[in-house]
Amino acid sequence: MKPLTITICTGTTCYVMGSGYLLSIQEQIESACSRPVEIVGSSCLGLCKDGQYGRAPFVQIGSTVIAEATAEKIIETLKQQTARNSMEQI
Ligand code: FES
Repeated sequence: MKPLTITICTGTTCYVMGSGYLLSIQEQIESACSRPVEIVGSSCLGLCKDGQYGRAPFVQIGSTVIAEATAEKIIETLKQQTARNSMEQI
């Protein structure tokens, strides 16, 4: 199964707001998720510029943007996406 990519913004704003911590939660995410995940860091995703997406730190999973990202929010989003994908396969 192709790993799901989780992109964690490590641009200055997001890093200052705690995204550096999120780079270290791979084990926590893997144990909560039923599919393989790949965590990558990225320079500014451009989401912090106008406030449209909320507040930093930002994480992107596919087309889903998580603002004020925490490990809990990332895991919850992964569970929702996994459940949605399971429903689509029925
Ligand atoms: S620094 Fe993270 S979106 Fe800009």
